[in-house]
Amino acid sequence: MFAVATATDQDRDGVWAVERDGPGGQDESEILGRLVLIADAIADGRCLLATEDEAIIGFAIHDRSLFGQPFLSLLRVRASDRRRGIGTELVQAVMAVTAGDRLFSSTNASNHPMRMLLGRLGFTASGFIENLDPGDPEMIYIIWLGASAPAPLPAPMEAPD
Ligand SMILES: CC(C)(COP(=O)(O)OP(=O)(O)OC[C@H]1O[C@@H](n2cnc3c(N)ncnc32)[C@H](O)[C@@H]1OP(=O)(O)O)[C@@H](O)C(=O)NCCC(=O)NCCS
Repeated sequence: MFAVATATDQDRDGVWAVERDGPGGQDESEILGRLVLIADAIADGRCLLATEDEAIIGFAIHDRSLFGQPFLSLLRVRASDRRRGIGTELVQAVMAVTAGDRLFSSTNASNHPMRMLLGRLGFTASGFIENLDPGDPEMIYIIWLGASAPAPLPAPMEAPD
């Protein structure tokens, strides 16, 4: 069974290995940029990881890079460990440490696994950004935390004419 904890500097190489476990053919400079982002997140205590038998099998990074709002910016589970609930547990762990009344995340429209995961946890759509990856909009998601969800609009008292 896996466990979730905050990453420390000793975990950096293991987290990097999970990041490199993605599909081949990625641009090396893009990967290097993400490795720096991961190292910064670990140093700041903003990286949560899932471990099993002392191996790191997934991680999540949260920051304030979306208009200063709490943002789940990166979630990755080792390919051989997917569909075991690890991504779900990591997102729930980020929700638990989020200071604030909402948590945003985002993913490409084409990323059905991530969109399904977020939807099952109760995230809802909050707009999208075109022209980051041509033809594949970046979908923004939000979940309201605690009792802070805005009240639904009241039903109209009378039917409109
Ligand atoms: C997206 C990702 C993090 C999901 O992690 P995971 O540990 O496999 O997710 P979970 O096991 O918690 O899945 C939760 C639910 O999400 C949905 N889901 C996850 N992967 C899916 C897939 N490949 N196809 C369809 N639905 C999927 C399912 O509803 C699943 O529940 P179920 O297994 O009971 O049907 C993982 O696929 C991954 O690391 N992908 C590459 C990186 C990435 O795209 N990250 C997201 C953007 S930063």
